[in-house]
Amino acid sequence: VGRWTAEENRHGIVLRDYLVVTRGVDPVALEQARMIHMTNGYSTMAVVGDKAPDFDIRTSSSAGFLFSVAYVTFQELATRVSHRNTGRVCDDPLADRMLARIAADENLHMIFYRNLCAASLDLAPDQTIEAINTIVQNFQMPGAGMPGWRRNGVLMAKHGIYDLRQHLEEVLLPVLRKWNIFERNDFGVRGERAREDLAAFLERLRGEVLRFEEQRDRSLARAAKRQHQSV
Ligand SMILES: [Fe+2]
Repeated sequence: VGRWTAEENRHGIVLRDYLVVTRGVDPVALEQARMIHMTNGYSTMAVVGDKAPDFDIRTSSSAGFLFSVAYVTFQELATRVSHRNTGRVCDDPLADRMLARIAADENLHMIFYRNLCAASLDLAPDQTIEAINTIVQNFQMPGAGMPGWRRNGVLMAKHGIYDLRQHLEEVLLPVLRKWNIFERNDFGVRGERAREDLAAFLERLRGEVLRFEEQRDRSLARAAKRQHQSV
């Protein structure tokens, strides 16, 4: 975990250095946003704590561990996907190579946490599937709440860096498949309930993906029409 933290900081260093030397962003605005975001802080438990059934943060350190390893498994894979796609749209071979290298690290991070979570599923299937279900249904990236977060999220979705379909098909489903979530037979009553709840959530998400894409296609068509009319 220490090594993971050190590597994440290295990603931050290289991305910031690249943006400063290429004048890619306003470094003062970047630093101000960083100060606001770091001062707000982040906690997986703040996100899921009040939504987790029977969870008491003062007495359940093992449950806290399960939420954390489930969360970082999905979150590291999400960074792998978004860094890789960011490299592609940068239109700069250096940025593409740099982000591919970062994405390779993120993949290793994901595998580490995915293995921990897989072992947890074998040891304590019901507890672990409940944590996974809560995390999947309340998932947010660590950048949530930082200045410009919503606007930037919309831009990322619009340009194919990270959207709802990628979240479902490239992040959630491959990990759940790897853990054999829907084929396991070691769940008790609690675990079965969580698994059914998770399956229903994924079905709703599939519907949202289609609605989002229809909306996006309509807005792109409108923009193309406006451009055509102004020529
Ligand atoms: Fe990472």
